[in-house]
Amino acid sequence: MTGKFIVFEGIDGSGKSTCLEEVAKYLTEKNIPHIKTEEPNEKFGIRSLIKKEILSGNIDDPVIDLFAFSLDRRLHSKNEITPFLEKGYNILCDRYVWSTRAYQGYLQGLPRDYVEQVQSIFLVPDLTLFFCVYEDVAIARLRKRGTPKEKFEEIEDLRKLSLAYLDIWARTKGHTRFIDVPEAGTEIEIKGDKLCRIDASKSKKAVAQQAIKAINEVLGL
Ligand code: TYD
Repeated sequence: MTGKFIVFEGIDGSGKSTCLEEVAKYLTEKNIPHIKTEEPNEKFGIRSLIKKEILSGNIDDPVIDLFAFSLDRRLHSKNEITPFLEKGYNILCDRYVWSTRAYQGYLQGLPRDYVEQVQSIFLVPDLTLFFCVYEDVAIARLRKRGTPKEKFEEIEDLRKLSLAYLDIWARTKGHTRFIDVPEAGTEIEIKGDKLCRIDASKSKKAVAQQAIKAINEVLGL
């Protein structure tokens, strides 16, 4: 049996990485085979190139960024995601194609159709969890974390990215099945098995509960 491919998407400071850890703990407790992974990925050397040359601001060319992140994704998909899904592992992946659509498309201004065409070669996830948060909440979290600022972490960037993700969400909702989460604590109505919007302004526990609920549905638990 193949595993499920579950993707965590959202702006910096949306809490997606913290939630991924919580979900992994939950799956470990339940003895459900899974792998935690992320993009850009450490295994293929592209991440260090991206960190050193792109996120540092040394290189500021959206086309280079698009292909660097896509090259990383291709290597990651072929060598890590697909083989482990085939072995029955569920994959929890921090960032995927929505990141490229939001950052290289909306933020850096590459034409949407062009970015989407490049991204269309990649495997479609079984579930995309969208960590929806306004930029002021994300900024407060990033300030608390105190990590040095990288490219794409200026307030103005986060503002644009937060709108970009909402637009991607709305567009995707228009032409695929989705799972909606109206309010934390409200029973969610599962309408399909593809997308789940998480209210990421809530506490760590409340955010994890929303994610686990959607994942349980997709895993058939
Ligand atoms: P990193 O610190 O590795 O992870 P995160 O912010 O998810 O904790 O930063 C990755 C940065 O790269 C982040 O600012 C988003 C950006 N990015 C893109 O611009 N395009 C992409 O396709 C991906 C995957 C990430």
